[in-house]
Amino acid sequence: MALEPTREDKFSFGLWTIGWNAQDQFGSATRPPLDTVVAVNKLSDLGAYGMTFHDDDLFPFESTHAERRKEIDRLKGALDSTGLVIPMVTTNLFSHPVFKDGGFTSNDRDVRRFAIRKVIQNLDLAAELGAETFVMWGGREGSEYDSAKDIRGALERYREAVNLLGDYVTDKGYNIRFAIEPKPNEPRGDILLPTVGHALAFIETLERPEMVGVNPETGHEQMAGLNYTHGIAQALYQGKLFHIDLNGQRGVKFDQDLVFGHGDLQNAFSLVDLLENGGPGGTQTYTGPRHFDYKPSRTEDINGVWDSAAANMRMYLLLKERAAAFRADPEVQAALEFSKVAEINQPTLNAGESYDALLADKSSYEDFDSAAYYDGKGFGFVKLQQLFLEHLLGAR
Ligand code: GCO
Ligand code: MN
Ligand code: MN
Repeated sequence: MALEPTREDKFSFGLWTIGWNAQDQFGSATRPPLDTVVAVNKLSDLGAYGMTFHDDDLFPFESTHAERRKEIDRLKGALDSTGLVIPMVTTNLFSHPVFKDGGFTSNDRDVRRFAIRKVIQNLDLAAELGAETFVMWGGREGSEYDSAKDIRGALERYREAVNLLGDYVTDKGYNIRFAIEPKPNEPRGDILLPTVGHALAFIETLERPEMVGVNPETGHEQMAGLNYTHGIAQALYQGKLFHIDLNGQRGVKFDQDLVFGHGDLQNAFSLVDLLENGGPGGTQTYTGPRHFDYKPSRTEDINGVWDSAAANMRMYLLLKERAAAFRADPEVQAALEFSKVAEINQPTLNAGESYDALLADKSSYEDFDSAAYYDGKGFGFVKLQQLFLEHLLGAR
């Protein structure tokens, strides 16, 4: 299997990832700004197929029409000359002081109206560039103090905003779907819609739930101590995996945004296996962009930026190769069989069987040998996991 990324792999990067100048709360930038055209050209050379951006990554906040146009046209020129695409666009509702208490859910109504206008303007740009996904990461939608935010009211305002934006996209005839990106905290003490589960439940309350899915990020679920692969599996199960943010995180702490696979490697492996082989008969479950939302570490110069961008794609391809080997190994297949992994897909009741029939089935209860499960009928999960790890390590 090829480890050189190609356009078919659908790797994409946020302009804000490679373009991060590494300023953090404790120190100033360690790298200069990155020009958009340079970013597009270099991503193309490395084998990516797409780039994504926030409005404010491309042109400064409150740019004039002419300033915006200049940057948009420069971007379009670079896209034309490289063939790179813009699969996703997102709006920055978190950097400027106006959004210090959020955008859609600021307590200040004027800010909420301004935020919706900013998003609408950016939706027009997304449509112009052919983006099919519009991500909504509400980093400032939240609070530090329980006394300061009426959460039910805030969710209602979030809902109002998403419903309105759905109206706008529908009326304009844009081919755009929304993807909500959950995160538990940072920059706010607590962020609304903190996990995949919260977001999925919220989406069902919307006027057009079919237009809205999720954009789960590896590190964000793991910051909440959750299993990212499980979150992705549930999003797929509910037909809501509209986009994905891949990166690396080591445990419950601040958002590290490491290279994909440089955090919880086992979970990254199971994720790639799920995306690539988790469908019926071992098919792909997700065909959208493999989008990296990482930050090249502050220790790196521009060479390290590009090395780390390439590392994301190489890690994904290595894990994809290892996952294919895992699935093809006859010993793994025997172990999966022994562990009854496929049996979970068999309905618990027979076709047409009612609870009356279940109650009448003595083998299911009266004659069932539950004692056999004491020091017997082991599932063999550890042996299976050892095989999984041996494949991950390249030992098989
Ligand atoms: C973060 C988020 C963001 C979003 C981005 C796109 O933790 O900073 O992951 O990088 O993904 O704003 O909406
Ligand atoms: Mn993040
Ligand atoms: Mn993200």
